[in-house]
Amino acid sequence: MLDKKVTELLNVQVNKEFYSAYLYLDFANYFHEIGLDGFANWYDVQAQEERDHAMLMRTYLHNNGEKVTFDAIDRPDIALENPMDPLKAALNHEQYVTSLINGIYKAANDVNDFRTMQFLDWFVKEQGEEEKNAEDLIRKYELFGSDPKGLYALNQELQSRVYAAPSLVI
Ligand code: FEO
Repeated sequence: MLDKKVTELLNVQVNKEFYSAYLYLDFANYFHEIGLDGFANWYDVQAQEERDHAMLMRTYLHNNGEKVTFDAIDRPDIALENPMDPLKAALNHEQYVTSLINGIYKAANDVNDFRTMQFLDWFVKEQGEEEKNAEDLIRKYELFGSDPKGLYALNQELQSRVYAAPSLVI
């Protein structure tokens, strides 16, 4: 059995990660609709990763004898009017998720729950990568997005992203 607060926060995070997947699928829809299929692929793959995050936390709770409860997933409602909107919204969202992971880590630390802290170490590192990826994408779009050839090349680069299952073993 895990600490009650830690368990609650992890269960909330399961639902937040599913929301992240939903949000990134919404971004992918936007890019599909405007013909930037490489950008769409990037967010489709990102959505798969978010589902993995949810499933890893779900498995961790199950492995520790805890019940998992699913909530309704909120409707993504960020206005997307140009390609930079989802890129910036993604960075804001990842910074928010980092704050949530840190909050769970702190709750685990407060009760000397070293097992959960060790489990979350992977997520702490992952958030660093997620924020960097989001920042890099904004920078590249700023550099190349206004030039048709540059945008074409960037779209091709993002088209090459392939889903890979997470390295974390619980
Ligand atoms: Fe589940 Fe994008 O962090």
